Amino acid sequence: MNKPSTKDTVLSLLLKNEGHAVSGSEIAAISGVSRNAVWKAVNALKNDGYNIKGVNNNGYTLSPQSDVLSADAILQDIAQKNFISDIIIKKETATTNDDAKLLGHNGAKSGTLVVADMQTNGKGRRGKSFFSPAGSGIYMSLLIRPQAEIEQSLMLTVAASVAVSRAIKKLYQVECSIKWVNDVYINGKKLVGILTEASMNFEVQTLDYAVIGIGINITTQSFPPELCDIVTSLCEHTSKFISRNKLIATVLNELIPIIKADFDKKLFFEEYKERSMVIGKEIDIIYSDRTESATAIDINEDCHLVVKKENGDTVALNSGEVSIKKKKRT
Ligand code: BTN
Repeated sequence: MNKPSTKDTVLSLLLKNEGHAVSGSEIAAISGVSRNAVWKAVNALKNDGYNIKGVNNNGYTLSPQSDVLSADAILQDIAQKNFISDIIIKKETATTNDDAKLLGHNGAKSGTLVVADMQTNGKGRRGKSFFSPAGSGIYMSLLIRPQAEIEQSLMLTVAASVAVSRAIKKLYQVECSIKWVNDVYINGKKLVGILTEASMNFEVQTLDYAVIGIGINITTQSFPPELCDIVTSLCEHTSKFISRNKLIATVLNELIPIIKADFDKKLFFEEYKERSMVIGKEIDIIYSDRTESATAIDINEDCHLVVKKENGDTVALNSGEVSIKKKKRT
């Protein structure tokens, strides 16, 4: 890695002392620069949106309520730091998944994380888009190179939905449910979308790399009309301050052990089923040209959704989309 800039060093010191004042001379001594250079770096950080208070002769305090995406802040809270090889923060990008795929194609290391403050072309599953306005969501893509077969990609995506649900419970005590395959919901509204994309090595029939893309609505209040009734933002379910950096790190802290254990189902499958909001429900299976009614019976060990169709046939779906039928009013 390159030598960190003065701005990065100052930020890292302020983050370590979040909520407490650090004197300009102390920062200058540790960073090996002049107090004037520290002052300039602090101003640059303020311009980036960091909430830094400078009290006369009392040094600088980074308010714990700053929510500027920062590689340092994310890394600081990651338990298994050696899993992460790089964190790339972008103010704006088309889609972090394509960024991570390009990096994967060009040989980037497993554990490369791309995070954006906004996406202009956020991608969802089945060709849909993912609404990604500036500063109000988490748009992150993790590049990994697992020793896995292509069939296991479904496990990646399922594991990610459990990791996000656990992280939200841990930080905000909010309980999430999961709509097969991997949409994370709160109180019947979608909060999180996950798009996993993989590149296969045909020679050995294993994954060359996979990109797990996670989008979480954090403070978005105004959604396009077609989404208004079906999506929600985390801020509506907690009064706590939500730090995107902390949530990203906590999601990774939940996900990394599962990835390291080669998607050992024991680590997440039971919880995935417990959080399922479709088992036992009347559903529509959505095909590209039609829908079909069925009852969701179970999720099998391969994470396929077992459904009973109206003609009595029981089948296991390995991909696709379902919607839960609304109860008819009597
Ligand atoms: C879905 O809801 O259908 C999946 C949405 C996935 C959105 C995330 S945001 C980060 C990453 N980059 C993208 O373009 N998509 C994923």
